[in-house]
Amino acid sequence: MRESILVLGIETSCDETAVAILKFENKQARILADVVNSQSLKHRLYGGVVPESASRYHLFNIIPALKQAVNKAGKSLKNIDVFSATSGPGLVSALLVGLDTAKSLAYAMRKPLVGVNHIEGHILAGLVDLDNLDKVEQRLPAIVLTASGGHTLLVEVKAIGRYKLLGRSLDDAAGEAFDKTALMLGETYPGGPAISRLARTGKSDRFKLPRPMTGSNDFNFSFSGLKTAARRQIAVLGKLDQITRQDLAASFEEAVTDVLVSKTIKAADSFKIDNIIVTGGVSANQRLREKFNKQIKNKQIFFPPMVLTADNAVMIALAGYFSHQQARSLPLTPQPKLSI
Ligand code: KG4
Ligand code: ZN
Repeated sequence: MRESILVLGIETSCDETAVAILKFENKQARILADVVNSQSLKHRLYGGVVPESASRYHLFNIIPALKQAVNKAGKSLKNIDVFSATSGPGLVSALLVGLDTAKSLAYAMRKPLVGVNHIEGHILAGLVDLDNLDKVEQRLPAIVLTASGGHTLLVEVKAIGRYKLLGRSLDDAAGEAFDKTALMLGETYPGGPAISRLARTGKSDRFKLPRPMTGSNDFNFSFSGLKTAARRQIAVLGKLDQITRQDLAASFEEAVTDVLVSKTIKAADSFKIDNIIVTGGVSANQRLREKFNKQIKNKQIFFPPMVLTADNAVMIALAGYFSHQQARSLPLTPQPKLSI
């Protein structure tokens, strides 16, 4: 490895315009800049992300985010050795903004550009210890749960770059179920943090909600029935007082986290894998972390640092670095339905 490599990552797959610069040196990765410009407040009015607006905001935000990252890092674009951007999955018109910006930069600076998988980014955010890049082997093979607003996936990771999809949500993603249930409780997007806040003082055993697919023989998930059960319960109750809202939030959070924990541990047990990694926006959930820590026996568990749970460009620069090292790249055109 060359003495020092600077990688710039760009993430625009959904509603975060993010640019990060990482320096790889002495088997460590240092975050020189981590700019995340979230549009979530802009989409709040509509209860979710509006694709056309998302790409327009990315267009407004990408150059300021880029300038901010370069200034924060104290570098010039000429210093960047490798550019990387999310190729997919995500919203086509949103991905296009990040990819085309990255293409222009790489072309102007005559440096390589790597297209990366957003899901690999989430995986690496939990798998890689930035202070000890060479210790990644100690966390492999691993079962990775990626739970976010767009995905709920169980992946077996044999090595960086070697991923096997074991299961996925057949309908709503876990984060999406949090978001939709929060709206029913009169909260705003994004709903995960709102449900968690309400749940803190709620009674999780007051409402009996289902734990879908926990008995199935596969590693798939389904959250739409759970969301519907919450909706029915809310309809039966009519007007909700604050205590009831807290109890509903706690019962819902308990049900979703039960499913995520039980299926992930089941996968690790079935494949006799001793490392579990939990990533994505939902991995910020404290109840989920608590439950994993409590229920895991004779296994190691790793979560990303809080700042790297939700969408960010540090994970894209990480994926860019490893892809470049392994001489691989995804196509540099949007891959909206990309899997892992
Ligand atoms: O990874 P992410 O930023 O974006 C996607 O790739 O989708 O994940 C966002 C999702 C949202 O659905 C949000 O409600 C959820 O992560 N989330 C949470 C928490 N914080 C964020 N869900 C549950 N508990 C949380 N504390
Ligand atoms: Zn994501």
